[in-house]
Amino acid sequence: MAIVRFVLEDDTHVEVPCEEGGRLADVCDASPKGVVPFSCRSANCGTCRVVVVEGAGELESHDDEELDLLEIFNATATQRLACCARLKAGSGLVVLRPARDDE
Ligand code: FES
Repeated sequence: MAIVRFVLEDDTHVEVPCEEGGRLADVCDASPKGVVPFSCRSANCGTCRVVVVEGAGELESHDDEELDLLEIFNATATQRLACCARLKAGSGLVVLRPARDDE
């Protein structure tokens, strides 16, 4: 079973066990409300940018839409869009936190 750990602003965290593989957005939706904010859910707004603190290799590669929007935000290489990213089959622990507006 995969685990996605959300690090919160106060440095506490929430862990969500999930199926191996599948949409990160579904895991976010299964977490306590508001852990990762969403708006468009279609790689248009950047609201769902997250920083992958650990386990980036547990996620499938970016698709072109995700890469294009991350480039617009000058996002660091550790950022992903939670509405686009997918966990790999056989995935383990992924640690992430919402990206701040200034990063
Ligand atoms: S919710 Fe808009 S880019 Fe992900």
